[in-house]
Amino acid sequence: MATQEAAHEWGAAVDVNVPSLSRIYDRLLGGGHNFASDRAVAAAITGLAPGYDVFVRESRGFVRRAVLHMLTAGIEQFLDLGAGLGGVRHMHELAQAERPRARVVYVDRDPVAVASLELIIHADDSSTGVIKADLRHVDEVLDHAVTTRLVDLARPVGVVAGSVLHCLSNAEEVAATLAGYHDRLAPGSLLAASHADGIVLGLETAAAVEDYLARAGITLVHRSRREFADLLGPWQPHPDGVAPIGLWRPDGLTLPMRECLWGNAVLAGRRPEPAERA
Ligand SMILES: C[S@@+](CC[C@H](N)C(=O)[O-])C[C@H]1O[C@@H](n2cnc3c(N)ncnc32)[C@H](O)[C@@H]1O
Repeated sequence: MATQEAAHEWGAAVDVNVPSLSRIYDRLLGGGHNFASDRAVAAAITGLAPGYDVFVRESRGFVRRAVLHMLTAGIEQFLDLGAGLGGVRHMHELAQAERPRARVVYVDRDPVAVASLELIIHADDSSTGVIKADLRHVDEVLDHAVTTRLVDLARPVGVVAGSVLHCLSNAEEVAATLAGYHDRLAPGSLLAASHADGIVLGLETAAAVEDYLARAGITLVHRSRREFADLLGPWQPHPDGVAPIGLWRPDGLTLPMRECLWGNAVLAGRRPEPAERA
């Protein structure tokens, strides 16, 4: 059982009896940064929707593939919005293994996620930083001292929003937030985002998961592929379009598991300035 001691060790002011989505995801990913309250919710969700842990792992797989693609496209600076606890391999480890100069700023509003990320960043790592912020506050995130130290906003940035936009219930606000990042970032910037979809999961099951989480004080909103696409605003999807997470540039030719269809993913680019288009 997780203890107050563990929370104290992370230096975060948390009530271990109140579950949080980042720690529930950590549990579903097989991580150890979670409390009994988080494990109870994770168990209930996989009870309602057997395979939800597979879906969460597959969603992380999309983030990994998208980051590798962004690196191939020449992007060396990343903003991980709603970073969570990261699972087995953290984004800065993945990116810096491929491109040692790569810089990563993690953004999350959960104090345990932030404290855990701070702990896994090596003291001598000057290329990675963590911000405790609400991703909807675009200027606060982009003008934060950690961001301005690590990210050159005059150059393309890879924005990653893995499994986080479905934590926000107000679709107009999500669209305005994504447009806000679009408008402040340099041409050539890319957005990688994934989002839970209740259609293949089953709308009744999706509603049961949402209701259970809501009773635990956690927002999760399943949106269809069309509804997700509508959030992207000025971001231009790459030719793959909005695809089921398991079908977005899969690693191999194996048939995806059904859980890969419980969410959608997209890689989208910043629209060029009018002068560039001419
Ligand atoms: C479901 S987890 C996803 C974690 C990770 N991005 C992934 O792909 O597995 C969602 C994370 O987003 C964070 N989060 C939710 N809403 C947020 C917001 N408005 N601002 C910042 N972080 C947020 C939660 O604390 C949680 O860590």
